[in-house]
Amino acid sequence: MSFEPSDKYTDSALRIGDTDPYPQRLVGEFIGTVVSNDWVNPEYKHLILKVHPHALKAYAGQMFHLLCPSPDGAEVWMRRPMSVYRVDRTEGQVEFLYKTEGRGTRGMAKLGPGDDFNIAGPLGHGFKLEPGWKNIVVLGRGVGLATLAPLSQLAAEHGVGVTAILSARNPDVVMSKELFEELGAKTITVVDTDNSSAVENVETILEDLIAKGKADAFFTCGSNRLLKLMQRLGEKHHVPGQVAMEQIMVCGFGACYVCMRTFKVDGKLTLKRVCRDGPVFNMQEAVGW
Ligand code: FES
Repeated sequence: MSFEPSDKYTDSALRIGDTDPYPQRLVGEFIGTVVSNDWVNPEYKHLILKVHPHALKAYAGQMFHLLCPSPDGAEVWMRRPMSVYRVDRTEGQVEFLYKTEGRGTRGMAKLGPGDDFNIAGPLGHGFKLEPGWKNIVVLGRGVGLATLAPLSQLAAEHGVGVTAILSARNPDVVMSKELFEELGAKTITVVDTDNSSAVENVETILEDLIAKGKADAFFTCGSNRLLKLMQRLGEKHHVPGQVAMEQIMVCGFGACYVCMRTFKVDGKLTLKRVCRDGPVFNMQEAVGW
């Protein structure tokens, strides 16, 4: 592996076994060790990284800023934000599920077992479960499902039931089904190839879950049309919701304002930084795109 992070990053980053000089801090820079980085289908890879214990404080919906290796020898200038797929506190590992499509993720795809990988985080505000919620509905599409998957872990820890509606182009690229089911979620797969992913069909599924008392809250990521659908049904049936917003980022911690998006709060349009104010927001405040 030819990746050599610059000294300015490695000097300050904690490695596994290092004593954390600031154990109360929220965010840190860490050098993890790759355990595995395997293809799960023709488009997506699953990276498992052994990390410093501080990084294990990450929870569902939060992200890390990744210093990806170069895929071609030229420098990769910026870190890449990526939501955490799973936190395995027993094994001391964080996991990422990612689509290899840009230079950062193509470089990341080259990582192999034993390689160092520099991550900064955990960043942002993730998903929250309110006391009293017994059953939640998760609806996502594509790589958005990787962001939603750790909700099943959070829900399992709090005794909350999950119905996960997994939307994809075709059955071969349905993401996160195993993780949801492993943690006790009921999954419903909808795909473009048989038109079951059509908004009308998903609406019928959601209405049925609401009628059965299985929808104390909605969660979504990865599709504007599904966000709009959940917003509409949430408003109609008074179901609260949260959305994880996807946005291009540079600094990842609120300094550069590159990630600003419009939200509607108390009837007024306002701008917020997705990296720092989110990436998880009140679903009804999100303005689609
Ligand atoms: Fe810099 Fe959000 S990425 S403020």
